[in-house]
This record gives sequence, C-alpha cells and structure tokens, in this order.
Amino acid sequence: MSDAKLQGVLSALSPVARQLNALPSNQPGRDANCVKLNTNENPFPLPMMVMQSALAALERHYLYPEDDNLSLRDAAANAYGLSQDQVIAGNGSSELLGLIYRAFLDPGDSVAMISPGFSFNRKLAMLQGARLLEIEWGESYSLPIEQLLLGPARDAKFILLANPNNPTGTFVPVDEIDRFVAQSDQLIVVDEAYVDFAPDDALRLVDRHSNLLILRTFSKGFAAAGIRVGFGFGHPELIERLRNLQNVFNMNVIGHAVGISILSHRADYHENHKYIKHERHRTTTALSQLGFSVIPSHTNFLLARVPPAQDGKWWQASLARQNVLVAVFPDSGLENYIRVSIGTRTQMDAFLSAARDIISGSMKTQS
Ligand SMILES: Cc1ncc(COP(=O)(O)O)c(C=O)c1O
Repeated sequence: MSDAKLQGVLSALSPVARQLNALPSNQPGRDANCVKLNTNENPFPLPMMVMQSALAALERHYLYPEDDNLSLRDAAANAYGLSQDQVIAGNGSSELLGLIYRAFLDPGDSVAMISPGFSFNRKLAMLQGARLLEIEWGESYSLPIEQLLLGPARDAKFILLANPNNPTGTFVPVDEIDRFVAQSDQLIVVDEAYVDFAPDDALRLVDRHSNLLILRTFSKGFAAAGIRVGFGFGHPELIERLRNLQNVFNMNVIGHAVGISILSHRADYHENHKYIKHERHRTTTALSQLGFSVIPSHTNFLLARVPPAQDGKWWQASLARQNVLVAVFPDSGLENYIRVSIGTRTQMDAFLSAARDIISGSMKTQS
C-alpha cells in the first residue's frame, strides 16, 4: 500500500481510535531472560492436574468451545456458593471490565474510579467516549465515601474500585465496602484481581446487594495470566445483560478446562500464596533498608517510593539496563514510585541485587 493510500485509510479512523495513540506504555522492551516484575504475573508452574487438563483440552482443538461458558460458570457457581445465573466468565477479567463499559456508557457519560487505580480503565473510558472521574482515595487509602455519595461521582453511571487496589496494593475492609454499597444507589464494581493475597473478600456481599458486581481473575493468584480466565459475580439480571453483549465463543477450550480444573484444585495454591506473601515481606524489609519507602501491600506487588534524588522513571530505566523490568505510572503524585511484582526468590534476589548496584553506582557519581 502506498503511503498516500495509507494516509487516506488512516484519516478514516474514528476520533477515539486516533486519540488512543496517546496512551503510555508500561512495558519496556522484553527479552526472554529478563526478570519480569512489571505486570504482576505469578511465575510458578500450574499444579500437575491443571496442566494435564490443559493438555487434554488441546485434543479438542478442532471443536468450538462450549457456548456461554456453561460448565465453567457452573463450576465457579459451585466453588463460590452462588447460582450459575450469578456468574459470567470472561477471557480474563479485562474482557468483563470492557463489557461493563459497553453496557453502561454512551459517549459523554461519566464513570468514576477511585484513584490511583487500574490504568486500563482510562483506555476503556476513552473507547466509549466517556469521561473517567478519578476520585482520590481517602485518608490512609480508605473509601472516600462522602465524596462518592455527594461529589461529582453522583453523576457517574457506575463506580469502580479495585480491592486490593492496583497500583497502591492497599486494602479496604469489606465491611466498609458493604456500608458504602448499601448507601449508594449506583452500580459499584469491585475488582478483586488481587484478592488471593488479601485478608478477606467481598463475595458474601453478592447476595446482599443488587447494585454490586465483583470481578475476579485467575491471572494473579492462580498463575494463569496467559490462559485468560476471569469471572464476574452479581445479580442474575445484571449478569444476563452483560452476557448478552459477549462475543460468541469468547473463551477457548483450554481456558475452559484450566478454569474448571483450577476451581477444583484451589487448595493446591495455598503454598504458592504463602510463598508470595513471604517474599513480599522479605522484599519490603530489604527495600526499606535500601532507603525505599514501601506501602504495606495486600497483593503480589509492592508500590515503593524510591530514595530521594532520583525519580521512578530513572529507576525503571536503570533497572531495565540490568534486565529487571518494573512499572512506573504517569499519575501525578506517583512520579517517585516504582511498582515491583513479587516473583520467585531468585527473581527478587536479582531485583534487590540490581537495586543495590544502582544505589552504590549513584553514590559513586555523587562523591
Ligand atoms: C486491578 C486489575 N484488574 C484487572 C486486571 C486484568 O486482569 P486479567 O488478566 O484477568 O484481564 C488487572 C491486571 O493487571 C488488574 O491489575
């Protein structure tokens, strides 16, 4: 295609598609040997039984997957004490987030997110031509309930919060969420992507509130980010509205098999969760000794304020030169922070050793 033709084609892009060029990327270049601590994966093998279910599913490669994810939804309903019509299954929870945006937002509408929050929501709002109202967390990362009930979020079609939250790693007690959802007449979406590393979860609220949707994923707690399995739980009518918008065959046969198998082998992950929490504690202590200030985390990552003198981007670039990838954020107030996923002990040692090298290198240049 000649360039003139290409320019003609590109000029037909919708204003939204053009605007999306402006989104920052959180993923510096990647090589196979890098220590990848920038997207909060869980770098451990799947339990053997789960792996076997994936391999067995491959034999069904020529068949379309089951329609409407029936068996997977059934398995999730049984595992979590809900009915099948309270469950939607997605190709990762990000698919389900996207469905919620499509279901509720017209161009010009508003959606509110407690902020800083999961940055993908900015893209989703942009795709709908909607305004994302970012409402700051309250004191010590508590729910800003007054703001939400009486401030500009009143006009939002729905309100989102992640609990535990990304990127802060902080956790709001479930009772606080319960009280807030009870007082609100808006849809509240609680994204529990990191709940497997947290002290509590909000699933018991699903039967109590018809204005609540809970999202879960197997990407973080269950080491299946590449397989893409996510769930939404809520009132059957809400869930049905979302299912109506879903692509046919939105998941594949491997996702179905792995999802069902994980649901019946959840206990096999206890050691993994214990390990990650232990490494989280060890890394927090080590980083504090190096002059970082770490926000106590209830997730599989840490948000750490870097030592004075350099900012988060400088640290990200310096670590990348040592083949260690971490995330930084464009949000105002987060310029001096890096987010580090918790991986294996070897990965965390590599990260800490790179951090020590960087600090001693920068001390040499200062002296
Ligand atoms: C808060 C939050 N929600 C949802 C997701 C998306 O997860 P999934 O892999 O299920 O699409 C992420 C991934 O980083 C996340 O941090």
